[in-house]
Amino acid sequence: MEEQTLYERLGGVDAIAAVVDRFSDHIVTNPKLNVNPALKEFNENGNLPGLKFMRTLWVCAVAGGPFEYTGKPLDQAHEHLRITSEEFDEVGAEIQRALAHFNVPEREQQEVLGAIVAHKHEVVNAS
Ligand code: HEM
Repeated sequence: MEEQTLYERLGGVDAIAAVVDRFSDHIVTNPKLNVNPALKEFNENGNLPGLKFMRTLWVCAVAGGPFEYTGKPLDQAHEHLRITSEEFDEVGAEIQRALAHFNVPEREQQEVLGAIVAHKHEVVNAS
């Protein structure tokens, strides 16, 4: 039997959207992330539902789901935010907590986090 994709093992778009919804809400209220003025500005005035959609689309596509990510390249999407390595890691911790909250098995948690960490160099650009 063929191995299921990560997308299938996670439970598809509904399960992925639930994880993204939760960690995205937690990022907005995380005091460690609100010290970055660009993130604070997005948290106060940005379009969070739209960002949740784009994040869900990205994860679905990377996990092998039947979607194509058509958003901005990650480096362009984050350039103006000047995200530090520590801020990136804090977002990773929020993602891990959301995966655990929904009882995603350890192996799938590690695969999701691995896929995200693989793109750290495109997202972090604080000098
Ligand atoms: C590999 C890790 C990450 C992935 C895969 C990711 C994914 C995305 C995607 C798909 C978008 C939308 C792009 C578009 O509009 O076309 C986006 C934008 C954004 N991301 Fe990330 N992101 C990551 C890391 C982070 C981190 C660490 C933060 C810090 C809190 C963050 C905060 C934001 C914000 C605030 C926006 C909206 C920017 C704007 O519209 O002005 N992202 N991200």
